[in-house]
Amino acid sequence: MAKRIDVKDLNLFYGKFHAVDGVSLAVPPRNVTAFIGPSGCGKSTVLRSLNRMHEVIPGARAEGKVLLDGEDIYASTVDPVSVRRTIGMVFQRPNPFPTMSIRDNVVAGLKLAGERSGKKLDEVAEQALRGANLWAEVKDRLNRPGGGLSGGQQQRLCIARAIAVQPDVLLMDEPCSALDPISTLAIEDLIQELKKDYTIVIVTHNMQQAARVSDQTAFFNLAGVGQPGRLIELDDTERIFSNPTQKATEDYISGRFG
Ligand SMILES: Nc1ncnc2c1ncn2[C@@H]1O[C@H](COP(=O)(O)OP(=O)(O)O)[C@@H](O)[C@H]1O
Ligand SMILES: [Mg+2]
Repeated sequence: MAKRIDVKDLNLFYGKFHAVDGVSLAVPPRNVTAFIGPSGCGKSTVLRSLNRMHEVIPGARAEGKVLLDGEDIYASTVDPVSVRRTIGMVFQRPNPFPTMSIRDNVVAGLKLAGERSGKKLDEVAEQALRGANLWAEVKDRLNRPGGGLSGGQQQRLCIARAIAVQPDVLLMDEPCSALDPISTLAIEDLIQELKKDYTIVIVTHNMQQAARVSDQTAFFNLAGVGQPGRLIELDDTERIFSNPTQKATEDYISGRFG
């Protein structure tokens, strides 16, 4: 299997607290991987470690390897800022810059990277907004503030902002949890589109969503309070939901806890 992301024996800590124990998993290119599991089992922590957002939290630390196309993103020679450009992230609550225009929200990263040409920025904004299925809804109001859009539109704006810098991988942490069902379906459709160009890892507490959007599913669990989260099983989504190997996975997906 071709591996875009290859995680090897990853351990994640918050100070002395060992939050995630010994995770190894691989993500092929142009694939959607879903992380599921009970609250507190480390899904967000693992996701943030995939683009070095974990270490931004004071006291947080990672041990182990995360390879992107064979290169260790934790190597001492690697600039975490460039890692986060290559591996973009979309958060639970849409977080556009509320007073900044729709256009400037999309190209904020490019401007930071030094792009000054207005024509180039306009082109990228249009391309990214089209890519995020938002162009038709905002093309006549590009100079209006991003904060004026609906929640679902704001989340697609954040996706446009993430893809404007042409990442290889998109990480999404419960991107629909603050959205209504219609907006949720719009994001799920978009994920299917984006999969043609990007590798996607999505955390979701919604098992139907994992089943709808993902190709492979990773089930995380924890033995108890204060215990580290562990990856229990990673397999084709169809198999996880029909015939998982581990009893804990089966109990979780069939709604029996503990
Ligand atoms: N910023 C943080 N500081 C300290 N502990 C944290 C922090 N974020 C998460 N944790 C702890 O790490 C564990 C995993 O949390 P998290 O990754 O958020 O789980 P999930 O996303 O699966 O709900 C939990 O015990 C949580 O309390
Ligand atoms: Mg979480």
